[in-house]
Amino acid sequence: MLPRQINRRQLLLFGLGAVTGATTVALGQWFRQRRRWLDVGDRTFPIVGQQSLRERAAAKGLLYGAAISYDEITEDAEFVEQLVRECQILTPENELKWSRLRPSPTTYEFAVADEMVAFAQERQMQVRGHALVWHRSLPDWFAETATPDNAEALMREHIETVATRYAGVVHSWDVVNEAILPEHDQPNGMRQTPWLELLGEGFIDLAFRMAREADPQALLFYNDFNLDFAIRQDERKRRAVLALLERLVAQGTPIDGLGIQGHLSGRQVPFFDAEVMRGFLRDVASLGLKIMITEIDVIDKDWPADLATRDRLVAAAYEDYLSVVLEEPAVIGVVSWGLSDRYTWLSSFHPRDDGLPVRPLPLDDTLQPKLAWNAIARAFDHAPPRRL
Ligand code: XIL
Repeated sequence: MLPRQINRRQLLLFGLGAVTGATTVALGQWFRQRRRWLDVGDRTFPIVGQQSLRERAAAKGLLYGAAISYDEITEDAEFVEQLVRECQILTPENELKWSRLRPSPTTYEFAVADEMVAFAQERQMQVRGHALVWHRSLPDWFAETATPDNAEALMREHIETVATRYAGVVHSWDVVNEAILPEHDQPNGMRQTPWLELLGEGFIDLAFRMAREADPQALLFYNDFNLDFAIRQDERKRRAVLALLERLVAQGTPIDGLGIQGHLSGRQVPFFDAEVMRGFLRDVASLGLKIMITEIDVIDKDWPADLATRDRLVAAAYEDYLSVVLEEPAVIGVVSWGLSDRYTWLSSFHPRDDGLPVRPLPLDDTLQPKLAWNAIARAFDHAPPRRL
């Protein structure tokens, strides 16, 4: 018995040693790559001309816009001025989600959303609809009300009512948001959600068919995150999302595009790999789908406090990412998740440990353009034109 036990323990120790060794090597590489990337030195982001982001994007046949919330556009005239200057398309940040539109299973509350859509229309701006089917932002009544028997009807009524109301106005809908999460270990990398539990994987195809019927003009998007970096988590996600898109296209689901959220986490930014990203975008485009960056911002939580350094890092993240993404002809536009650091979800979702304000967006909190603005401008200026 004894020799066997010793052997086992030896084996275990050997195994542990090997794992630690491998981890050390990987960690070493990780630190080196991170250090190399963080050394942005005196990288500058010079721009030519006075044009806004909207104009620079439009010059290439691209759209630029931002997510906005109701209070921002009704209570902050100074902000609205910048919004109108910089943006061609707006995404209501929360106001088209179930929790805002559906006070009860039988009623709808459209006043706020209607006002936001009218705001955009009056200013000749386009609207992205976000989002028809998502596992979050479901109203409290949903869990008590939805059953496998009524879920399809519930979804149908919602999509019919909401997408029909804004038909002809909405440029593109995020029909299904965040349905893939390989870490949940479900078949096909599906995320464990109420929709999956209630209707099975077919809920995705169903939602797209309902949306197409309700609004034949809007472009219909599948939208998701963690698609950006050469790290294992994103690699798995890209593979599962691509496989989903392939299945949808093969079965004739009326889908027009992939929305890549593009929340760029500072920790992961050093692992952006242009070739990997190009390959993924090419694979998506080869299915005949369009691509939009739908929610870009840069999470600066783990970066140095020093403003000059931090702003340079944020700008570098934008430029490195967007210049690669915009090379792909299937990409039709970029939407940032906010316009100014004055209003960003990251202040509460990814605050800095040192308590300093986060600086993830093109304009600072006084509405002045930062290097991030220059970086985005440069990416548009260098992008190949879409229409000739
Ligand atoms: C976020 C909003 O910005 C927050 O205000 C809200 O509290 C939660 O949702 N991915 C998405 C968006 O698709 O809907 C999320 O928006 C951000 C992450």
